[in-house]
Amino acid sequence: MVNQYQLATGDSLRLVKDMQDESVDLIVTDPAYESLEKHRSVGTTTRLSGEWFEVITNEELKGFIVDCYRILKNNAHCYIMCDQETHYVVREAALACGFTWKKFLVWDKMAISTGYSWRAKHEVICYLEKGKRNLFSNSLPDVLSHKRIRNRYPTEKPVSLFNDLILNSSKPGELVFDAFVGSGASMDAALSLGRDVIGFEKKESQREGIISRMEGNHPDAIYSDSLLQPRMQLQLAV
Ligand SMILES: C[S@@+](CC[C@H](N)C(=O)[O-])C[C@H]1O[C@@H](n2cnc3c(N)ncnc32)[C@H](O)[C@@H]1O
Repeated sequence: MVNQYQLATGDSLRLVKDMQDESVDLIVTDPAYESLEKHRSVGTTTRLSGEWFEVITNEELKGFIVDCYRILKNNAHCYIMCDQETHYVVREAALACGFTWKKFLVWDKMAISTGYSWRAKHEVICYLEKGKRNLFSNSLPDVLSHKRIRNRYPTEKPVSLFNDLILNSSKPGELVFDAFVGSGASMDAALSLGRDVIGFEKKESQREGIISRMEGNHPDAIYSDSLLQPRMQLQLAV
């Protein structure tokens, strides 16, 4: 099976509004959430190197979650990566728009983070369900151990972490969506596992790197301009 991918450069909060209702099979996303700024202020690498990205406010995150519910097909899962503080924001917004809050998973980074006091070695992944969908495997632990990535794109996640989520909540050929792709790790994982994928990223400067990552790692996959079907176009077509 030949897989397809599409990358849109721009503001996800706006781009997602144009997506058709119930059009994706799985959402796996790692937003640039508000409280990331606090972690940055105590870190050193990104603070000193200057490479960073804009974050969205908690209110914007809540609105985005409403759109996630709308564009997700029924009987499907949504994973939103964040921290302890932001998971309360995600939970409240998710429950209010109709998701079932399943639980949060823990990403064990297998290495200590920057900062002081009790230094973080984990992040949180909110596991949400629309309708009812069985996991592929009920035998996996809710702590996912994957070594963190250092000295690459800020907050870049390991492909193997995305693999666990995508494998357990989608089938080959299904369409995965990530609205904050950063380095393109989620897209890389989705194509490796035979899924189609749509990614959004605001930073123009990331586009070339993400596309070459897909072309290098997935030479058989096809870039498609039509995976993303604009809402207006469809409405006009009927
Ligand atoms: C937490 S990082 C994602 C890292 C990614 N998971 C990876 O493994 O590389 C969040 C990304 O969202 C992007 N971003 C921030 N605000 C955005 C917005 N409104 N729309 C789209 N992307 C945005 C940032 O530029 C950043 O690349």
